[in-house]
Amino acid sequence: MEARLPSGEARELLREKGQFWTPDWVADAMVRFALAGGATEVFDPAVGAGAFFRAARRHRPAVGLRGCEISAAALAEARDSGLKPEDLHRVEFRDFVLDPPPGQFAAVVANPPYIRHHRIGPLAKARLRRLAVETIGVPLDGRAGLHAYFLVRALSRLAPGGRLAFLVPADTCEGKYASALWAWISREFRIDAVLTFSVEAAPFPQIDTNALVLMIRRVAPRGKMVWAACRERASPGLLSWATRPHPLESGSLLAVERPLDEALATGMSRVPNPGADCAARLADYCAVVRGIATGANDFFFLTAKEARSTGIPPDLLKRAIGRTRDVTGDRVTHADLERLDAAGRPTYLLALGASPADALPEAVARYLAKGTEAGLPDRTLLATRRPWYKWEARTPPPFLFAYLGRRSARFIRNDARVVPLTAFLCVYARQGVKADVDALWAVLSHPATLANLKAVGKSYGSGAIKVEPRALERLPLPEVALREAGLAPPPRVPSQVALPFAPAAPAGY
Ligand SMILES: C[S@@+](CC[C@H](N)C(=O)[O-])C[C@H]1O[C@@H](n2cnc3c(N)ncnc32)[C@H](O)[C@@H]1O
Repeated sequence: MEARLPSGEARELLREKGQFWTPDWVADAMVRFALAGGATEVFDPAVGAGAFFRAARRHRPAVGLRGCEISAAALAEARDSGLKPEDLHRVEFRDFVLDPPPGQFAAVVANPPYIRHHRIGPLAKARLRRLAVETIGVPLDGRAGLHAYFLVRALSRLAPGGRLAFLVPADTCEGKYASALWAWISREFRIDAVLTFSVEAAPFPQIDTNALVLMIRRVAPRGKMVWAACRERASPGLLSWATRPHPLESGSLLAVERPLDEALATGMSRVPNPGADCAARLADYCAVVRGIATGANDFFFLTAKEARSTGIPPDLLKRAIGRTRDVTGDRVTHADLERLDAAGRPTYLLALGASPADALPEAVARYLAKGTEAGLPDRTLLATRRPWYKWEARTPPPFLFAYLGRRSARFIRNDARVVPLTAFLCVYARQGVKADVDALWAVLSHPATLANLKAVGKSYGSGAIKVEPRALERLPLPEVALREAGLAPPPRVPSQVALPFAPAAPAGY
């Protein structure tokens, strides 16, 4: 069965339940890995419509099938998908994470529900936290989704010598909680391989999630692992590779061995070795902060027409930029602002600081009164501010950074001296840094610098990357970019990772 993907409104509903079925070609590869140790039974903790059961039947018709599921509708789909009643009679209707069946499993295959933390209720969250503490010794950061706990529970039930293949979103390796999770996994298990997919081969092409397969065994850990990139759906050779992951360079499958330490430091969802071209980090030159969160853009962020009609004096309006698609190139200029004004896009931000309302001009006081009438002072963010219309101070930064958008993440030179809203990060030169704006721009816009963004960003299914402020400060600045900009690397050179190969970035990265 081909991946059946939801569209439109149905997708949001499915997100609640985490029901995205694994495509057959990925299920086949995962089952090969899990059964390569000779197990006589496959366990799927989240059976859904039965993609792994069908894959197991294709590969080994007599293999035992066992699993859990909490959705009757999903199991009905499994019955309709060609599985027989006897294939499903050992599927227990129970919550695998909070109420797992007893015993250990020799071959586990799963595509756990991708349910993000904000969809998990407080009671379940507390129990998941306890599970992490009891199993790995420390709690996971609160942003860990249910899929991370599926992995923890499944690994804890893996029999000695057992094999596990999990299809997970890249945040399992890149999220805030990942370091605690992987410290435990790398201590207790052998990470045989991580199989990543380029954009063309994405298992879930219509969902904005960068999925990858973890292949792990309960045997003594090893200092190396195999990192693979699949560049074509149902890549020839994938099935035999999955049986025994090893270094390989075939047309559509690239697999390299990488030191485990490096993989853990880089994030094993990412291309190996980005640290090698690192003469400095962005933080050596720049500080990064988020753009302005007004808490009510529709009130504070005005078009030229609105600014005129309210009569607010120009010195209380800052020029600002709101959406990444309002900046088409890698510079924002006065001409851009004029173009946006002509198109009726807002570019004027009401900037009153902490001035008391009665000290403000009458036109402003009238405008604020409308906001009060509309209940703005009680809105989540605004209720915490004194006065409610005071947002955090930001001077126009020399550079902006578009950290997530349909266009790839990029630095933008701020020639128009705008302040940005939250779609952007502000990049300021650090005090005391001996580099002018032109030299810094030469470094930030250098292709070798931009190539390093994937080393610090979180990856999404469309090939987009999202980079948080602290992660952007860790951006490796390559020697060539500094040299061409006439900048000497700072004296404190960060440690470099030496790898025995020069990995090719897979297509789409
Ligand atoms: C992403 S789907 C994957 C299903 C199938 N194994 C596949 O790969 O196509 C995850 C499934 O987990 C089920 N599920 C969600 N929470 C669960 C839980 N706590 N225990 C067991 N199953 C759960 C959902 O109903 C859904 O069918």
